[in-house]
Amino acid sequence: MTILVTGGAGYIGCQTVIALLDRHETPVILDDLSTGKRAEVPSSVPLIVGDVGDMELVGNVLREHEVDTILHFAAKIVVPESLSDPLGYYLNNTVKTRALLEAAVKGLVRHFVFSSTAAVYGNPDFTPVSEDALAAPLSPYGMSKLMCEHMLRDASAAHGFNHIILRYFNVAGADPAGRHGQTTSNATHLIEVAIETALGRRSHMSIYGDDYTTPDGTCVRDYVHISDLAEAHLRALDYLRRGGESCTLNCGYGRGYSVKEVIETVKKVAGVDFEVHQASRRAGDPASIVADSSRLVRMGWKPALDHLPTIIRHAYAWEKNLH
Ligand code: UFG
Repeated sequence: MTILVTGGAGYIGCQTVIALLDRHETPVILDDLSTGKRAEVPSSVPLIVGDVGDMELVGNVLREHEVDTILHFAAKIVVPESLSDPLGYYLNNTVKTRALLEAAVKGLVRHFVFSSTAAVYGNPDFTPVSEDALAAPLSPYGMSKLMCEHMLRDASAAHGFNHIILRYFNVAGADPAGRHGQTTSNATHLIEVAIETALGRRSHMSIYGDDYTTPDGTCVRDYVHISDLAEAHLRALDYLRRGGESCTLNCGYGRGYSVKEVIETVKKVAGVDFEVHQASRRAGDPASIVADSSRLVRMGWKPALDHLPTIIRHAYAWEKNLH
């Protein structure tokens, strides 16, 4: 049976498509190419250019390709952008996911894996944060994903398909074999911004806030290699196919690095110094967020690239070859 990968031309979706092909699965991609790139998609995989909120289109794809599983990546993912355009985020991430779920129910899809985010936790009381912690997003982005989680749980319980919600922490790096990486223009994510600065594509970068209650005052995040994250989707898929009960799983390494530590590591990996300015806090940023991923590990997830310099080395190699 076929796996529908929404957002499969994007950064995480495409890496997962590559992982699926590596083990001879049959994916088909639905992507509106708003941020994804056609050139990224492996040539053997059908790419349907369209909207996940288009129920008729999705229904046709499910039927024609005999889809029994959906991996739903397609979303807008930039926290600051969600604060300036909340309704755009609720439309794109929440409303369209509702339509996709209805099409999935009508199309008798059996398994559903949803890309959620650590942003659903907001500023957690305890860290590492477990899946049972209170979900209290600080941004429309986090809320748009949390609303999808609720819809998915309810639809799954009512209509008898099983699902996994994967809450990603800070995804970074590039395919270790150099087949894929991030191609965002106007990057906002820390590691990308720092690498672009190291490569001289920006004159300087800024640290947003150094007065947080963290060891060096800058925000702490759990950076997970994109290849390990793709692997987590394979584990989720195997589990659902075995008839596993629906559940929600964190995906991170359980170790946090501050913004300053990340920037220092980028400087070391690139072998250059660059200008870093101190700026005020960025709205919607939690101080510190690190994953307790023990449930995912119990499911058989074995991260292979839990090493910040390696994550940065892969991202740097990709970015350097990009232009
Ligand atoms: N930062 C800087 N300077 C920059 C860019 C980022 O100081 O130029 C800081 C941010 O303020 C934040 C940290 O680096 O404190 C990480 O920021 P990112 O933008 O790289 O990532 P976020 O933590 O905001 O968000 C990311 C994903 C979300 C996901 C979240 C989970 O974009 O989808 O991680 O923790 F939900």
